[in-house]
Amino acid sequence: MRMIRVTQSSFFLALLLGVLGCVTAGDIKLSKLYPPINSSRTAADYQAESTSGMVVSAHPLASAAGAAMLDAGGNAIDAAVAASFVISVVRPQSTGLGGGGFLMFHDAEAQKQRVFDFRERAPIKASANMFLDESGEYKKINYFGHEIEDPSVNGHLAVAVPGTVKGLVEIQQELGKLKLAVVMGPAIEAAENGFPVYRGLAEAIIERQKWLRIYPASRRLFFNGEQPLVEGDALLQRELAATLREIAASGTQSFYEGALANKIVSEIQRGGGIFQMADMRAYRVIERSAVTGHYRDRKIVSMPPPSSGGTHIIEMLNMLETKNVSSMHPRGATYLHLLSEVMRRAFADRAKEMGDSDYVTVPVARLTSKSYAKTLMKSFDSEKVTDSKSLAGALPTGESPSTSHISVVDQWGNAVATTQTVNYSFGSCVVAEGTGIVLNDEMDDFTTKHGGANVFGLVQGSKNDIAPRKTPLSSMSPTMVFLGNGALEMVVGSPGGPRIINAVLETIVNVIDFKMPLLEAVHATRIHHQWMPDSLKVEAKSLDLETKKTLVAKGHKISSIKFIGDVQAIQKRNDGMWIGVSDSRSDGRPSGSGVAP
Ligand code: DON
Repeated sequence: MRMIRVTQSSFFLALLLGVLGCVTAGDIKLSKLYPPINSSRTAADYQAESTSGMVVSAHPLASAAGAAMLDAGGNAIDAAVAASFVISVVRPQSTGLGGGGFLMFHDAEAQKQRVFDFRERAPIKASANMFLDESGEYKKINYFGHEIEDPSVNGHLAVAVPGTVKGLVEIQQELGKLKLAVVMGPAIEAAENGFPVYRGLAEAIIERQKWLRIYPASRRLFFNGEQPLVEGDALLQRELAATLREIAASGTQSFYEGALANKIVSEIQRGGGIFQMADMRAYRVIERSAVTGHYRDRKIVSMPPPSSGGTHIIEMLNMLETKNVSSMHPRGATYLHLLSEVMRRAFADRAKEMGDSDYVTVPVARLTSKSYAKTLMKSFDSEKVTDSKSLAGALPTGESPSTSHISVVDQWGNAVATTQTVNYSFGSCVVAEGTGIVLNDEMDDFTTKHGGANVFGLVQGSKNDIAPRKTPLSSMSPTMVFLGNGALEMVVGSPGGPRIINAVLETIVNVIDFKMPLLEAVHATRIHHQWMPDSLKVEAKSLDLETKKTLVAKGHKISSIKFIGDVQAIQKRNDGMWIGVSDSRSDGRPSGSGVAP
């Protein structure tokens, strides 16, 4: 496999680029932006440069696999699919073959974007109150003597029909240039030969050990006897390697109609889940129309329903456009108050208006219109917060290490933004016997109980009620930004549940209004507000005392959080260079195509 390579900015190169007005990774002190999780890594570890293509993902092996496809003459789709399959192997806590996702493809020749929805769907037997008992409280499920709490988050009933395999395979077969088996090669190798457990993975196993321990195939994979795997142990996934080989040979057949489908359905039924072979056979990837908007002189293209992400990013940008953001300080109280008030308004709409647009009416055109943004901003008060209850329309306790975003551009200027997930960390925590596949818990993204909050603290509305074959509402926001002349400027996305929407928004505003170089735009500290509960989340130690005091005086209820999002982004710099940046909040690294070692 191709070795990963990242920019080594020498002093002289930095000096030269400095003279030319370009900023290199070496110029930026990461400690001023965000404290890196691993202090042995420097800013240069998070930025790569290339003129011929770029892959940015949340694991070095995935980025390297993608870049290897570009080097072998593959296009952005080949690279994105290769990186996605590797991410499925090396980030089982985040995403995988038992999950789902969204992918946006920018076709440089046609100058068009295509958007694919391969998110999980509710089983045919699903129903609105399936997680509740007669008194309207969450059911407790008995699994071989274990009591399963939160059955929409843990265990077999939480699993929705997975879409990742159909999505990746069908998209690659239609739009890729290389053979599927070639594109899947690095993932098979990573599963077969193993890789060292890194800190984020070890921590995720600890966090979910209670559940991973009770499902036999999960315990065999992520434990060494009775002990959870620790950093530095090898994670070997031979069954997953065999599963990947079967997909490389049969395409989607075995997974949706054949032997693999049988194994997945047997696992679901053994644990009291409700989906059947008919659900697997009925699974379809849906091509949708992107949601678009304009912000200042840029065009924003993002994910439509069943994601709420694109709609609210554009809605929030429209609100911000009514103010002179670039005259504000990016960490000052004036901007942070405005930003959180804009978030509060958009998330109130999320709760009220959003759901799967194949089942309910979602007023995307209204929500993304400039006139609606102006109406929303009429109640904005620069001196005090708006009461969330006055807006027609909840919060996570800690950032889950699940979901993963990949950004890609190729030598022809095609691009891919794809965000994929098993929902919460390790999804349902169930690994299907004989497959190595971690099954999702995407059912929890529905409104499972009216007035209740999901695992990310989101209080959601009736438009997002469960129904057979419906898609749960998502926040995943693969997004692209285009210059006024139509040229692609940025590819961006993040995990983080509801925080995805705000992390993507903040990165875009940092670039467009504050003119930050991408490395700085991604690493600048972030805030998050999601309407309910009325809490302004800020990254730990990111506000100076004065700013905090001013925000509190305006009525903000501030609480701090370790980190918000894990952005993987690419930007075309003025000199024509593609800059790839991985967020130091997690484990990612960018990998440029054709970059000398
Ligand atoms: O689709 C969604 O919005 C969620 N299932 C994403 C979950 C997620 O990003 C978890 N990450 N930290």
